[in-house]
Amino acid sequence: MAAQRIAVVTGGNKGIGFGIMKELCAKFSGIVYLTARDEGRGRAAIEELKKLGLSAHFHQLDIDNAESIAAFADYIKKTYGGFDVLVNNAAMAYKHAATEPFGEQAENTIRVNYFGTLAVCHALFPLLKPHARVATVSSSCGHLSKIDGNEPQAAALREKFASSTLTEEQLGELMNEFVVKAKDGTWKESGWPNSTYVVSKIGVSALTRIQQRAFDADPRPDMVVNNCHPGYVDTDMTSHKGPLTIEQGAVCPSYLALLPPDIKEPRGAYLWYDKQIVDWVNGPTPTAW
Ligand SMILES: NC(=O)c1ccc[n+]([C@@H]2O[C@H](COP(=O)([O-])OP(=O)(O)OC[C@H]3O[C@@H](n4cnc5c(N)ncnc54)[C@H](OP(=O)(O)O)[C@@H]3O)[C@@H](O)[C@H]2O)c1
Repeated sequence: MAAQRIAVVTGGNKGIGFGIMKELCAKFSGIVYLTARDEGRGRAAIEELKKLGLSAHFHQLDIDNAESIAAFADYIKKTYGGFDVLVNNAAMAYKHAATEPFGEQAENTIRVNYFGTLAVCHALFPLLKPHARVATVSSSCGHLSKIDGNEPQAAALREKFASSTLTEEQLGELMNEFVVKAKDGTWKESGWPNSTYVVSKIGVSALTRIQQRAFDADPRPDMVVNNCHPGYVDTDMTSHKGPLTIEQGAVCPSYLALLPPDIKEPRGAYLWYDKQIVDWVNGPTPTAW
């Protein structure tokens, strides 16, 4: 008998992550792990899935906590030896009305959305099996054109992010540089946009490109990572202003998680919620949501 196939979704307890859970439970041939930072919320979501006739496993995973990440990786390694599908969905966003200073928002948003996602990838990528699929949920905010601070500094930043030789280390330095500029109040004149969330999502979109290059050089065959804008979705994050349902928001991330073996594209790409590949460097981005 073939080894059990395993899929993992971060932040699966609500919103788009819960929508992705529903779709993977229905379509993935194997065990789907719903992970959440809060055990109570995670287990409640498993019960919700049960009511829909869907079955999933639960494990705690806080992408902002190194011990939690290490414990989850250790669990997967010891229990299954490896796994097949990772959906990086978990993220946070400050509300427009948030009163925390911009520098503090930058530090927290970049730490969770960029460095947290990166830490999960570092811990889990060594456990991915051949033909693995990784889907990272970015945003329309993650398109390179959203670096729109003062020119010509913004253009210089875009050029760095767009470089086909950008390394993970250099990308991490760019993320940290933004946090420093956000704290000393000079982010706009340094070319950075006026949103910490935008920078965090540009970070994960740039990371995807770097990760696909590493996968292409990996001895494990047919490893694919992509990222997408899930659409503007009715969730807590958008204060329920998005017009799309969580099921509609789950369409593209789930499609990327379930890409069939040996596909030529998308690989290392940025997709819109309707599954079309969008040029991350040159655009244009589709207009609707
Ligand atoms: N909604 C949209 O219109 C939209 C548009 C573009 C992109 N996105 C992206 O789509 C993804 C899902 O967003 P959503 O709208 O579904 O937001 P949401 O309803 O706020 O859900 C966010 C999920 O991430 C989890 N999370 C937050 N911090 C975490 C951490 N440190 N460790 C583990 N899980 C954590 C949350 O867990 P708790 O329940 O414990 O807080 C929750 O499960 C995010 O990456 C978001 O940036 C959303």
